[in-house]
This record gives sequence, C-alpha cells and structure tokens, in this order.
Amino acid sequence: MSILKETYTLSNGVNMPKIGFGTWQIKDGEDAYNAVLTALKNGYRHIDTAQGYGNEKSVGRAVKDSGIPREEVFITSKLESHIKNYDEANEAFEKTLRDLGTTYVDLFIIHAPWPWHDMGKDCAEGNVSAYRALELAYNNKQARAIGVSNFEPVHIQNILDHNTIVPHVNQIGYFIGIDQSETIDFCNQHNIFIEAYSPLGIGYLLENKAIQAMALKYGKSSAQICIRYLLQKGVAPLPKSTHESRMIENAHVDFIIKSEDMTFLDTIKGDPRRWDNID
Ligand code: A2P
Repeated sequence: MSILKETYTLSNGVNMPKIGFGTWQIKDGEDAYNAVLTALKNGYRHIDTAQGYGNEKSVGRAVKDSGIPREEVFITSKLESHIKNYDEANEAFEKTLRDLGTTYVDLFIIHAPWPWHDMGKDCAEGNVSAYRALELAYNNKQARAIGVSNFEPVHIQNILDHNTIVPHVNQIGYFIGIDQSETIDFCNQHNIFIEAYSPLGIGYLLENKAIQAMALKYGKSSAQICIRYLLQKGVAPLPKSTHESRMIENAHVDFIIKSEDMTFLDTIKGDPRRWDNID
C-alpha cells in the first residue's frame, strides 16, 4: 500500500494521512492550483495551507476540480499569526471556509504564538482568546481537529491552563539536524500530535554530505532519507514541491532506515535553512 494511503490517528480518533503536501511559498493562482492538483493526482490526500500563504482559494479550487470526494482529502489551514482575539479569529475562520469553498476543514491551527512581525511577543491572553474561536469551530463540527503551530511548551501550557480542548496537533519546523526534543517530549506527554514542516530544511538539507552518503547507501535520494527519517520518528512530514517528479519521489518512502543509521542521523546538528530567497 502506498504510504500516501496510510494514516496516523489523532487523540480524538480523527485519521490524518501520514504525509501531507505543504503549500507555503507556492504562489496563489496557477502555481498553487497546479501544484495541489498534481499532488492530488499523484495520490496525496493531505494538503496543508494557511491564511498567511494567501493561496487558500487556489487550494480549494484544485481540491474541487480534482473530482476527489471532499471527505477523502484532509485539509489543514491556519489562523494568521497576528490574529489574537476571539471575534477576529471567528471571522477569519469563516473566511477560510469561504476561500477554500468547503463547509469544514480537517484541521485548523493557530499559525504561531506571536505575530511574525513581532516574534517572541507575549500573546498569552490573545492565544487563549483566539483558541476559543477554534474550539467553537470544533464544537460546531466545522473543524474536525484543532491545534497550534510553532508553539513551545510554555505556549501550550498556557492553552492547557485556560482552554478546554487539548490541542490535537502542534505543527513545528522539524528536520534532521534541528533539536525539537523539548517540544516533542512535552507534546507526547499530552497526546499532541507532531507535524513536521520544512522536512527538507526548505531544500538546504539536501546539500548535507552525510545525508547524501546515506542516500547513496540506500539507493534513495537525500529527500527520501529526510522524509523517511521523520516517518520513523512517528511524525507527519509536510514536504512541498512544485515539480511532479519530486512530489512522486517524496512519497516513495516505503523503506526502512536501520536503527544504527537513525542514530547516526540523530548526531547531525545544525539548521541549514537560509532566508535570502524567502519573502
Ligand atoms: P521545488 O518546489 O522547486 O521542487 P521543504 O519541504 O523542506 O520546505 O523544502 C521545499 C524545497 O525543497 C523547495 O524549494 C523544493 O523545490 C525543494 N524540493 C522538494 N522536494 C525535493 C526533492 N525531492 N529534490 C530536490 N528538491 C526538492
């Protein structure tokens, strides 16, 4: 069975395909539409978008035009990082449903604990307030699961202390080399599932010589090693590509990295991401 058909089960019993197709940086319009349509054509059934990516309309159009029944596609979107109050979060959620052209999303998460333009700001109260809007969407069955993204233990503890529904998911930047153990341990303790964005370190991890050597040894590509590593960590990787051949390659990860090689990959340290080409 293709790995694209395999699912993880969230704490509330909702099944989520193990590999998601990321759409960050894929431009709205034909780029995002074609990428999502091509991913769906090649078997992806989990699409990750966000209000902040500006491409929800194209994602929604692609899902519709694919002809795949809505209930067979797992769609995630995210509340913009600067929205930190209940009323605005409710309005923004309704807009997401309109833009995606759907009556529900499978997962809706707070994009970040602080606005991107003011990273590190204390938004404890605002996060509790915004998360209440997510709880309303969940209780109204307009979101099958809810959660957070880029949250560290302190931010999640705040939600646990002041809200009712334990987040089902925390989506974090996670790839070979980055140490996310504190957040992952905390999430595991609370049954909060980890999704891994930028599994290829936005592409830069593929330049790593040790990963390249391991890819050669397994007869796989570096991207496949990076994605398989995360699957063996029990998390959901969200690779993205605008090239069909790479979408296919990134989903052919039904091989096993031996435990000693996993241990070796764990010793790689450092975040290779560069931000020069990111707008
Ligand atoms: P492209 O869209 O031109 O294929 P991440 O998922 O970690 O954010 O990485 C995304 C980046 O990695 C994109 O720039 C994408 O480029 C590139 N990429 C995705 N899959 C592959 C692959 N299999 N081989 C090489 N580069 C890839």
